[in-house]
Amino acid sequence: MCNCGNNFLCNIFIAVELYFISRSRMDFRNLGIGVNLACVEFFTDTFCNADILAAKSQKNNFHTGGNFILFFCVLVHAVNIGRGGNFLMFEKILAVDEISIAYGGREIVSGVSFGVKHGEILVIVGESGSGKSTILKAIGGILGSNGAIMDGQIFFRDIEITNAPESIRRKLAGESIGYIFQNATASFCPIRKIGEQIFESVKAHKNWSREEFLQRAKIIMQNINLEETALEKYPFQLSGGMGQRAGILAAMILEPQILLADEPTSALDPETQSNVIDEFLKLRARYGVSIVMVTHNLEVAKYIADKILILKSGKMIEYGTAAEIFNFPQEEYTKELLNVC
Ligand SMILES: Nc1ncnc2c1ncn2[C@@H]1O[C@H](COP(=O)(O)OP(=O)(O)O)[C@@H](O)[C@H]1O
Ligand SMILES: [Mg+2]
Repeated sequence: MCNCGNNFLCNIFIAVELYFISRSRMDFRNLGIGVNLACVEFFTDTFCNADILAAKSQKNNFHTGGNFILFFCVLVHAVNIGRGGNFLMFEKILAVDEISIAYGGREIVSGVSFGVKHGEILVIVGESGSGKSTILKAIGGILGSNGAIMDGQIFFRDIEITNAPESIRRKLAGESIGYIFQNATASFCPIRKIGEQIFESVKAHKNWSREEFLQRAKIIMQNINLEETALEKYPFQLSGGMGQRAGILAAMILEPQILLADEPTSALDPETQSNVIDEFLKLRARYGVSIVMVTHNLEVAKYIADKILILKSGKMIEYGTAAEIFNFPQEEYTKELLNVC
């Protein structure tokens, strides 16, 4: 592999490959191996340093190691594609372009734009009433009768869903776009068992037998630490954390490409909150799902986000990678927010 005779060039390839994999958060589909950005930084640093040393000593000892990693990355891509993965890991799943949203004619959100790529996590941060939920509802097509998108466009992949007819909305909901509510337990019917309700929502989209449903549900449940017995319970029998996980299961069961999660952990105690956040990361690694998450918790945002959008009074204050926002905030409002936490 890569017998380019040039360590520097080879290392560039390695860095690009690792970055490519890390950004896509591909866990090598079903192999259960994840690569994160820290790992990439470690490798690139190591190989850059090795490169300098090799150049200085005129030795080529590190070349073999570099080639091995490059080969490994290429192999991983091949496995991923072979298993039905997406070649274009940078593919845009969601594009929100200059949207303005109003309730009863009153503008709540003004000219907000952002994009979410395959496997990417975007976190929307903003004070209460800034329009975070409104943006998620607009994407999910659940603004309600007095809400409307007044301007701009929303695309799911290459399908414009800004004012898509109900039939398209219904097809996309669940199958391609999953929605997790702040209080997921309350989103279930209180007098029917969790499993029964989720299976019923599945039947609107798929012709799965109960066995197939259970098989698929179990895989997701393992990833989110939800016991199988939860399917046989009524919503009131679940703790806050388990109710939230049941909501995640309901949103993930059809393996959507994007999850919209509205403050999914804010009602949970700190320990359960951090467990559930880790479970989101596991789902992303396992399924390559993209996530748009709303939170007012900057610690959560820092931990989970690839990109962050800071919202204030319905307007975008700042939008960038998590590293940019946390390390080099440009706007006073962002700096204030960061200082408060
Ligand atoms: N269904 C609705 N009808 C009228 N106004 C609404 C409705 N939902 C939200 N709003 C208003 O829109 C603004 C933004 O709300 P929301 O998006 O829920 O904020 P956030 O999620 O950031 O706390 C608030 O002023 C709220 O009162
Ligand atoms: Mg809200």
